[in-house]
Amino acid sequence: MEQTRGRFTGPPLTPRTAVIWSVLRAELDRRGDEELTVLDVGGGTGGFAVPLAHAGHRVTVVDASPDALAALTRRAAEAGVGDRVRAVQGDGDALADLVEPASVDLVLCHAVLEVVDDPTPVVTALATALRPGGAASVLVAGRAAAVLGRAMNGHLTAAATLAADPCGSAGPRDTLRRRYDADSAAALLRAAGLTVEEIHGVRVLADLLPAAVADGQPAALLELERALAAQPPYRDLAAQLHLFARRPVTPSGRVTPSGRVTPSGRVTPSDRVTPSDRPVRPRE
Ligand SMILES: C[S@@+](CC[C@H](N)C(=O)[O-])C[C@H]1O[C@@H](n2cnc3c(N)ncnc32)[C@H](O)[C@@H]1O
Repeated sequence: MEQTRGRFTGPPLTPRTAVIWSVLRAELDRRGDEELTVLDVGGGTGGFAVPLAHAGHRVTVVDASPDALAALTRRAAEAGVGDRVRAVQGDGDALADLVEPASVDLVLCHAVLEVVDDPTPVVTALATALRPGGAASVLVAGRAAAVLGRAMNGHLTAAATLAADPCGSAGPRDTLRRRYDADSAAALLRAAGLTVEEIHGVRVLADLLPAAVADGQPAALLELERALAAQPPYRDLAAQLHLFARRPVTPSGRVTPSGRVTPSGRVTPSDRVTPSDRPVRPRE
């Protein structure tokens, strides 16, 4: 794996990660040689955090699971980036209390908004944690894929329940509390004041194909996943949706001191000034 900032190549790509890494790589390339402050909410065992640290960035992972954080710490140490990865046990629902406003360049929130108590304050906290101009990488479960998946497996009642449920859950036994389509996910981010720049489908086909096809033609599958990821209607049938969004700078284009992003989308000045070079400082 390439270790020099500004020339990030990243880990080996899979249908689960290829599209996300291609979006992140473009952002890292755009930032050139800067050492970025990254926050990975629900980052688990560090599948994204460790490669980003390996590329020269400083990553704080906030996760509810001590086991996941222990695995993250081991993985980071084995990769030689233990000094660049910080593990913080915390609940995404209380993120606003864990992270300084306007202290982060890139925030990741992958496969977490489906399981938190309430996604709205979490997304507001993500937006608030970002410096103006900073970016958010958000991955959520796709609703249409879950309906189709249940129906194709013969679980028609669960498919109907999920399709009719306002949150996109199949009921109390569903492991996820909610799912999204592109519009509802984008609306959630916009309501927190973020500008949605890109939406891609992740695993458009991978979960639908027989294992023999997926395992037998991995390069062709990866290529097809990439080709379909940005194109509705294929995008909208993906198992997950990836949104890349940005906290706007002020109308003058200047980066302001700490500001609160209100749910209405307006960036309001705040008396909690955070110097732009201050690292993320979780309160443990
Ligand atoms: C499906 S895993 C995703 C891990 C990683 N983001 C990825 O995409 O590979 C969900 C992660 O979120 C964490 N998690 C679940 N609920 C959480 C919460 N309320 N606050 C913080 N982390 C949470 C879990 O411990 C787990 O590590």
